[in-house]
Amino acid sequence: MSQKKVEELLSKMTIEEKVGQLTQYGTSIYGGVNSPSEDYIRAGRYGSFICFFEPETINHLQKLAVEESRLGIPILFANDVIHGYKTIFPIPLAEACSWNPELAEKAAYIAAKEASSEGTKWTFAPMVDISRDSRWGRVAEGAGEDTYLGRKMAQARVKGFQGEDYSANDRVVACAKHYVGYGAGEGGRDYNSVDMSLQTLHETYLPPFKAAIDAKVGTVMSAFHSFNGIPCTTNKYLLTEILKKTLGFKGVVVSDWDAVNEILQHRFAGTKADAVKAAIEAGVDIDMGSAYFDEVLAEMVAKGVVPIEVLDNAVRKVLQLKYDCGLFDNPYVDVNLHKSVILCDEHIKVARQSARESMVLLKNEGILPLKKTTKKIAVVGPLADDAKSMLGCWSCLGSEHNSVSILKGIQNAVSDKCTIVANQKAASKADVIVAVVGEISNLSGEGKNRTDIGLPDNQLQFLNELKATGLPLVVVLCNGRPLSIPWVAENADAILEAWHGGIQAGNAVADILFGDYNPSGKLVNTFPYAAGCLPFYYNHLSTGRPPLKHIIHTSKYMDAPIDPVFCFGYGLSYTKYKYSDLKVNCDNDSFTASAVIKNEGKIPGDEVVQLYVSDLVASRVRPVKELKGFDKLHLDAGQAIEVSFTVPYSELGFYDYDMNYIVEPGDFKVWIGPNCCEGLEGMFTINR
Ligand code: BGC
Repeated sequence: MSQKKVEELLSKMTIEEKVGQLTQYGTSIYGGVNSPSEDYIRAGRYGSFICFFEPETINHLQKLAVEESRLGIPILFANDVIHGYKTIFPIPLAEACSWNPELAEKAAYIAAKEASSEGTKWTFAPMVDISRDSRWGRVAEGAGEDTYLGRKMAQARVKGFQGEDYSANDRVVACAKHYVGYGAGEGGRDYNSVDMSLQTLHETYLPPFKAAIDAKVGTVMSAFHSFNGIPCTTNKYLLTEILKKTLGFKGVVVSDWDAVNEILQHRFAGTKADAVKAAIEAGVDIDMGSAYFDEVLAEMVAKGVVPIEVLDNAVRKVLQLKYDCGLFDNPYVDVNLHKSVILCDEHIKVARQSARESMVLLKNEGILPLKKTTKKIAVVGPLADDAKSMLGCWSCLGSEHNSVSILKGIQNAVSDKCTIVANQKAASKADVIVAVVGEISNLSGEGKNRTDIGLPDNQLQFLNELKATGLPLVVVLCNGRPLSIPWVAENADAILEAWHGGIQAGNAVADILFGDYNPSGKLVNTFPYAAGCLPFYYNHLSTGRPPLKHIIHTSKYMDAPIDPVFCFGYGLSYTKYKYSDLKVNCDNDSFTASAVIKNEGKIPGDEVVQLYVSDLVASRVRPVKELKGFDKLHLDAGQAIEVSFTVPYSELGFYDYDMNYIVEPGDFKVWIGPNCCEGLEGMFTINR
């Protein structure tokens, strides 16, 4: 039905109006369009807008398009709704540490509901980039270093934003970004070149995009960087061969902000016209922010430099997207809707649950949980009362006034018998010190790369002084990337990784510190000894000289241990889980591994059980092990549950030298465990 309408509309459009649909209004960092011209809207020259939030403004601009332009094509309003709209959830990296895709889906749904209630219909999320180098500031925005977990989170977030039908007034269309390999920039530097084997591309970086596409994501954003020498914005292999032909993506591709202009900075094109031709012919449909399509594309099509079919195909997809968003039927936003939706109790409740589940207990020498009747607790450190940083790096319209700092959360939780002191001098007279350190939110996110991923400023010195008091020291870390914290790991009595936990961070930290919530989060990135170890990830390839402590000529460092400070999948609880009874069975097309997990402690808890596999001998060097399944179990005190994973052999293959995906027969090791370094070990064989 809508297809017919799209064709009808297309047949009536001038070339300028067509180009308008491919132009997303925004301000270029190098200049460009500065403010939306109302005449331009009336002329149908803008297809979508970014960075407009007020419902009244949106309706005003929409009215110009719908009622005062020749063809009345509505505008699509887009924004970066990354980890919440006004109810801000933990940064995506933290949320992934919950290993709870259902919860991530719920958070994305709430974000969609709030955003759409104010007129946003398209979000530039989820970011599904794999990040193995935490110098890169955008590690905060993804789901960590693992592809399998990345796939599950990508799928959940797309479903959460879009639902079954994103024309519903509580949903938005999602955008899987940044296509592709963005996390692998040289030196951990944002925007930097990526040079990568096609096998690594297909095995590690593409699968989360495939998962998003299988979940019917409506749009994809091409990335800024050059990939094997070709900017992603002009990369026909990536955008046409792989994205469209192999992965079957039929939706809209939007460039990243100003990236069409940056084709010139890459020196891949010498003129605007060449840049535009390269981008649109490679498969970019919408130019975000550079205004180059607007400036030169119409003339190029008129002269036949860019075939009209190329333009029409892109416009067709954009019109279809607008139909699918329901904009032709409901272009306006109900200006009263947001009042009952935004920051409602239910949303805040989910934000608190999400924050609790995203936090990771890294160390506990029996000191936690604290008693609410402890006489005096010192809550100190540069981030103790920093409500703003809890919002994280991409907090959309989140406000620090709605955000609970850790100091405030602890104050909310304790009984009136407990005194909280917040200044360092008084700390020496307390019963226990809670030191809140880490990164302010502005130290991670886009462009916020670091060469040193330790605690910034003089925070180590500060912790040393606290340690010298001899009092029990609980360190709460708030940060947007995995940190290198060997001193803290050695010297603190307890460590809680709280990340930038969103507006309920403070209450969630208190829930954990006082035992109202039993921590269950597990790391999704390795915590290395030092930034010099990066990129560092658990599923690295086998080497010919694996590190051996006393043998110099093996693969390690002279000045730092090679073992991670905390490994992928690691996280503690206030109870103890025992793993036993591993069983492994093989079928024709899959294997099944099961184990019994028992809660041997006195309190209930949630345990993230992980399944890893290693291909023992293969015709291409394989990772030492890879995550192939996980399950988050709720276990009452004393309860035992048998957990079982069935994995098709097709999940165990790889790309050979000629880029054929193959599954080789042979022996495999399998582990079921609490993290990537521990677990019950078994074997199975694929006979073919
Ligand atoms: C970022 C994208 C974002 C876009 C629009 C770019 O700089 O890389 O992730 O969606 O800006 O704000």
